[in-house]
Amino acid sequence: MVKRIGVLTSGGDCAGLNAAIRAIVLHADSHGWEVIGIEDGTQGLLDRPVRARRLLPDEFDGILLRRAGTILGTVSHGDPFAYPMPDGSIVDQSGRMIDGMRELAIEALICIGGDGSFRILDRLCRQAGMPLVGVPKTIDNDVYGTDAAIGFNTAVEVAVEALDRLQPTAQSHDRVMVLEVMGRDAGHIAIHAAVAGGADICLIPEIPYDFGKVAEKLLAVKASGRSFALVVVAEAVKTDEGKPIAHRKPDGGIRYGGIGQWLAERIEAEVGIDCRVTVLGHVQRGAEPIAVDRVVASALGVHAVDLIASGRTGTVAVWSRRSVGELPIPEVVGRTRPVEVDDILVRTALGLGIYVGETGGGCTSP
Ligand code: F6P
Repeated sequence: MVKRIGVLTSGGDCAGLNAAIRAIVLHADSHGWEVIGIEDGTQGLLDRPVRARRLLPDEFDGILLRRAGTILGTVSHGDPFAYPMPDGSIVDQSGRMIDGMRELAIEALICIGGDGSFRILDRLCRQAGMPLVGVPKTIDNDVYGTDAAIGFNTAVEVAVEALDRLQPTAQSHDRVMVLEVMGRDAGHIAIHAAVAGGADICLIPEIPYDFGKVAEKLLAVKASGRSFALVVVAEAVKTDEGKPIAHRKPDGGIRYGGIGQWLAERIEAEVGIDCRVTVLGHVQRGAEPIAVDRVVASALGVHAVDLIASGRTGTVAVWSRRSVGELPIPEVVGRTRPVEVDDILVRTALGLGIYVGETGGGCTSP
């Protein structure tokens, strides 16, 4: 019989994490379980003393449901199996983290994270003999098997709000406005925002594009008598010569950013229309969760507790067809969820006359 479980948030934050933690704490309490919140993801297990605290239902008095970020803190670096030390060496810290888990006397762990976190935690928990359940969160919405990861819908809302604010100023100045959105290698935020925000062009990493067609579309808009246009571009889109616009992070990872500026400069130089760029960045992560994210986070949090209660661990709780379900962790981490060329959002965008790239040429995996 489980009496005490742990919960941590891992990877980039997003809206709805606190709503998920709340759901876990409230539902675990109804089972008579204690919940230990581990601070700063796996980092809290590595530090000594271990950084964790008991989470009580009273803490969730109504405010946290609405608040962005994560009360537990999170990290998006530091693989326990290849942990970068201050002296530059790389050390396997998995044993120390497992000792940290044992110190907390937890009998199961819930990781609210993305596929990278699930992969690492799955390996760690297998080594520790610790039952694990994953709850998917990421604004990128690229976790396999779930229609919506926590945070995605709020990020889309922010991007649409940005387009709503860019449209009047674009119209006033007869400009093309380029909005660069996040999403890493997936174009879900971009394509949703483009459809909901009335964009004319949407470039995503999964679909190759032809700059000549971008220019043609903008000239066609102008010829139709409309003096402005809106362009959405996902951060991982490459130049038309296939060059990524990204920077190496100190830990070897890739940080995207800059394709919007590149595109705007090309448009000004080759199409001759005044163009401005907005890079939305982390604004997409820090907003108050919209209702649908609170609903998804609450449903997945409750389901994660139910999965532990029924012994269905080693799974990721998923949101699919307006219901919850679960998939084995290896099935989720072994796959990605790009925007498919026959996705309803791509078809809708095409139906609306939005240029989304060369869809006839098929969808490329970035
Ligand atoms: O994965 C979520 C995400 O917000 C991506 O869309 C973005 O590329 C990345 O994280 C930014 O990460 P960081 O917080 O390290 O800047």
